[in-house]
This record gives sequence, C-alpha cells and structure tokens, in this order.
Amino acid sequence: MLLAQPSFAGLAAKRIVFFAGKGGVGKTTSAAAFALARAYSGARALLVSTDPAHNLGDIFGVGIGDSITPISANLEAIEIEQETETRKYLDQVKRNLSKAVQTTMLDEVMRQIDLVAHAPGTAEAAMFDRMVSIILDESHLFDVVVFDTAPTGHTIRLLSLPELMGVWIKGLLQRRQRRNEDYSQLLADGEPMEDPMFEVLNRRRERAAQVSNLLLNSKVTGFVFVLVPEYLPIAETRRGIDQLSQYDLHVETLFVNKLLPESVSDPFFQGRLDQQQQYRKQIDADFPRQAKLDLPLLSHDINTLQSLETIARHIEQALVLRENVVSRS
Ligand SMILES: Nc1ncnc2c1ncn2[C@@H]1O[C@H](COP(=O)(O)OP(=O)(O)O)[C@@H](O)[C@H]1O
Ligand SMILES: [Mg+2]
Repeated sequence: MLLAQPSFAGLAAKRIVFFAGKGGVGKTTSAAAFALARAYSGARALLVSTDPAHNLGDIFGVGIGDSITPISANLEAIEIEQETETRKYLDQVKRNLSKAVQTTMLDEVMRQIDLVAHAPGTAEAAMFDRMVSIILDESHLFDVVVFDTAPTGHTIRLLSLPELMGVWIKGLLQRRQRRNEDYSQLLADGEPMEDPMFEVLNRRRERAAQVSNLLLNSKVTGFVFVLVPEYLPIAETRRGIDQLSQYDLHVETLFVNKLLPESVSDPFFQGRLDQQQQYRKQIDADFPRQAKLDLPLLSHDINTLQSLETIARHIEQALVLRENVVSRS
C-alpha cells in the first residue's frame, strides 16, 4: 500500500523549500517545524519568514529581525519585512540611477522613483530581490533554506518574476543599446559609449536567471502546499498547483494540517471528524501525484517551542519512515 504512494523522501534532500497555501492553514508553522525537523537530523537549516505578523521570535524566544540569527542547534532564522525591503530596494535603484543620469535630471528621476514606491509590483520586486540575495549570497552556509511564503496568488507572482523580469530587462537593455547607438552616432562619431546602467541591468538579469534555474531544478527546490481538509483550501491547492505547473514548477508534497484525533467522542467533534475524513479521502483522490504528510491539530495554537517541536517530530518521523519504505523498495 505505502509503496504505491508517491514518496516525500526527496523532500529531505532539497536545498530550497517553499511553503505555499491559503492564509491561516499553517504555512509559517509548517515551514518552521520543517526547518526544525531538518535541523534535528543534522542539516544546517535557514528559516526565512516573510510573514507580516512575524511570530517566530516569540515561538523561539529569540529576537530575530532582518539579519540571520542563530536559533538552536543547526537552525538559524531571518524575518524579512516588505516595507523595509521596498525602501532598501528603491534606495538601491536610486543609487544606481544617480550614477547614470545627468545631474540636471536627477531630481525628476528621484521623484519618479518615489512615485513607483506604492505601484503594484514594486513590493514583490523588492521581496524577490531579497530572496535572490539570500539564495545566491547566503545559502551556501546552509544545507537547506526554508521559505514560508505569503499566500498563494502572491507566491506565484513572486515565483513567476524571474521569467517576467528576464523579458522586461531584455527589452530595456535592447532599447538602451539602440538609444546609445543613436547617441554615440551624434556625440562620439559612432564610437560606443559606456553605459553604467547596462552593467547594472545585465547583472540583475544574470542573477534572476541563476535563481530561476535553481527554482526550476526539482533536485534543488521543493514546493510544499499546506492545506487543511476543507472545501476551499482544497480548491485553492488545486488552482495553485495548476498555476505553478504552468511555470514548470512541480509540487511534490502536501502537508495536510490540523487533523482531529480519531478519539473524539463528542457528537459535534464526531461530525467534524467525519467531514475531515471525507475531505482527507478526497485529497488522496484529487492529488494522486503528491505525497501527503498528515499533521495533527494540537489542542492550542502553536506559539511555544514545545508545540512547534511536537509538529517537527511528526515531520521528522514521516520523512524517515518514508525514506525507509523507499529504500526497501
Ligand atoms: N496543527 C496545528 N494545531 C494547532 N494550531 C495550529 C496548527 N497549525 C497552525 N496552527 C495555528 O493556526 C494559526 C495559523 O497558522 P500559520 O502557520 O500562521 O498559518 P499561515 O502562515 O498559513 O497563515 C496560528 O495561530 C497557528 O498557531
Ligand atoms: Mg504565515
């Protein structure tokens, strides 16, 4: 029976793991518990929280914030904030542009940049930039980097950015190159002119492409969808998996969270349990290609290290069990 199920043994081997899913299903909890489970088994793990209401610090009893902070044996964490990242990102863009733009135009250009601060896409681009820097510049210190992403639609936009950004930057570069050729025709008798922005944009394009390749490599990167056995999270998971697969990103694992204990006897909870069990069966039928890891509903919120450890132990055991099943097969 077990052998017929897709295995999630591969999940323990990924270097980058993203947690996606509807708001409130337990992405942050699962990501933190998964990172802890990997740390238990000796992997050096970095947990990246993008949750606007960061509570990892409370759970782990350590102030975390915007720099990589040791948490426990083999586990470090960082909390990244959309607002801070957007500000840093725009400052960087300004610095780059101030090298490239004539002084007379500088004020106008800076004003334009301040205007895009709240434009759609800017915050995503900023968060993506930070993700790129973590993956390319910081991940070599770790065996696995675990991202608890923002809710589904957002996540998918973030992930599709490498492709979009590739096209966008390519267009920009071509337009700039053409314009430079026109200028140099006028100003420098056709001699090519140096363009500092060309360097900057090209570098960004290269980095986005590098990350895109890592994300598309299923040996390196894993996508986990977290859901609870209810109607809407199942529907959203289906949509999310379809959307990701349009970008050639394949979800191999589902974490089915908040499962009631079978021992409930009260008629109200018995009713809930029946419903959960039906949806749980539906999850098996609807997602035959994904391995499912079941997680229990605890009697209280997961806001202490102890409760997080309970979930982490479940994950650790499930990974080990499945690894054994697979290696025996
Ligand atoms: N298995 C569980 N048992 C009990 N409470 C849980 C469980 N998983 C998550 N929670 C609680 O549910 C809430 C939402 O979890 P969270 O991980 O923040 O979701 P998300 O990141 O998907 O929005 C939190 O209060 C968390 O403590
Ligand atoms: Mg969250």
